[in-house]
Amino acid sequence: MNDFAQIRQRFPILKQTENGQPLVYLDSGATSQKPQEVIDAITRYYTLENANVHRGVYGLSERATEAYEGAREKVRRFMNAVSTKEVVFVRGTTEAINLVAATWGRANMNPGDEVIITEMEHHSNIVPWQLLRDELGIRLTVLRINQKGEICLNALESLLSERTKLLSITHMSNALGTINPVKEMTALAHKVGAKVLIDGAQAVPHMKVDVQDIGCDFYAFSAHKMYGPTGIGVLYGKESLLEAMPPYQGGGDMIYSVTFERTEYNVLPYKFEAGTPHIAGGIGLGAAVDFMESIGQDKIAEYENQLLQYATEKLKAIDGLRIIGEAENKGGVISFIVEGAHPHDMATLMDQDGIAVRASHHCAMPVMQHFDVPATVRASFGVYNNFDDIDCLVAAVVEARDMLL
Ligand SMILES: Cc1ncc(COP(=O)(O)O)c(C=O)c1O
Repeated sequence: MNDFAQIRQRFPILKQTENGQPLVYLDSGATSQKPQEVIDAITRYYTLENANVHRGVYGLSERATEAYEGAREKVRRFMNAVSTKEVVFVRGTTEAINLVAATWGRANMNPGDEVIITEMEHHSNIVPWQLLRDELGIRLTVLRINQKGEICLNALESLLSERTKLLSITHMSNALGTINPVKEMTALAHKVGAKVLIDGAQAVPHMKVDVQDIGCDFYAFSAHKMYGPTGIGVLYGKESLLEAMPPYQGGGDMIYSVTFERTEYNVLPYKFEAGTPHIAGGIGLGAAVDFMESIGQDKIAEYENQLLQYATEKLKAIDGLRIIGEAENKGGVISFIVEGAHPHDMATLMDQDGIAVRASHHCAMPVMQHFDVPATVRASFGVYNNFDDIDCLVAAVVEARDMLL
C-alpha cells in the first residue's frame, strides 16, 4: 500500500457505500472529509476536557484553554504568522472577509476609494465589498480573466492607482482551479500603498501557504475544507493592522474592562473574538493542521497535481466535454460541461454510481457569466482520492452523457 492508500484508510466515511456503490467523494472543494484523528480530537475534548476557556481557574478549564490556545499556536506555525496575536479564530472564510470589510473597511475607506477584486471570486469575496460600496460610496473594480481563467499581472498593474485601498483576491479559484500569483499581486498592490486580503479557502487544503513570504496583510481560510470541522476558520492579519482596527462584535472575552461609561478592549487576537468561541472547532482545526503536516503540504500538492493531470487527460478525451478553466497553474479542481447535457442532470445520474460531484455555479456566478454557462460539473480532489476514483468519474460521465444525449 502506498502512503496515500494508507491515508485514505484514515477516513471512516469513505468506507461507506452510496446507492449500493463504494463512495467516490469528489467534492472536497465544498467541504473535505475528516480523518479519524480530527474526529478523535473533537470527541476527546467533549469527553474529557469540556469547559469554557479563558475564564476558569479550575484545572478542567485550564486544560480546555491549553488545548484551544495550543491549536492557535499550531495554526500560527502552519501559516508562518509572526505571532498568535495575528491568528483570529472566526467562523470561516466568509466571516473573516466580512470582519475585514466591517472593521478595517469602515475605518479606512472614504467615498471614491477603491477595492479591486478579480472576476473569479467566490460570492463571499464580492458581496461584502458591494455592501461596503453601497454604505460608504466606495468603488468596486473587477480585474477580468482570460479564456483560460487566468488573471494578467499587467492588467492588474494598470488598474492599480493611489485610489486603490484594497486588493482582495482569491489564492485559488473554487470554480476554475486557477492558482493566482498572489505574491506578485501583493507586491504590485503594495507599490501603490494598497492593502491585500487573500481568500485562501481553496489554497490552504492543497499547498504550503506562508503569509510572510506572500507578504499579504490579511489571509482568510476555513477549517472544514482542510480536513477540519465546520464553523471555524482563521483570519490572519498583520499585528499593526489588527491593532489599529476597531472590534467586530461586542461581548464577553473581547473586553479588558467594562463600565457603563466606557469599555477597554482586550488584547489581540481576543479583541475580535466576542463570546464563547467554537472551542471544539479550534481543537479540531489544530488536529487538521497536525494531519496535513504529518503528510507534508508539498507532498499533498504534488500528489493532487498527479490526480489533476490524469483526470484532465481522461476527461478531455470524452466527446462533447469541455473543461472550464485551463490555467497553466491549477490546483485539484476540474470544472466541465458536456455539450447538450445540463450539469445538474449529469451529477444526479452520477450519484447513482456513488460519485459525489458538485453541479452548480459554485457561488461564483460571475465566472459562469464569463464562460456563458449556467453551471458546471465540478470534481475536486483531496488526499484520499486515487486514480481509481478518477476512472470511476470518467466512466460515470460517459454513462450519464450517453443516457442524456
Ligand atoms: C474560494 C472560496 N472562498 C470562500 C469560500 C467560503 O468559505 P466558507 O463557506 O467556509 O466561509 C469558499 C467556499 O466554497 C471558497 O471556495
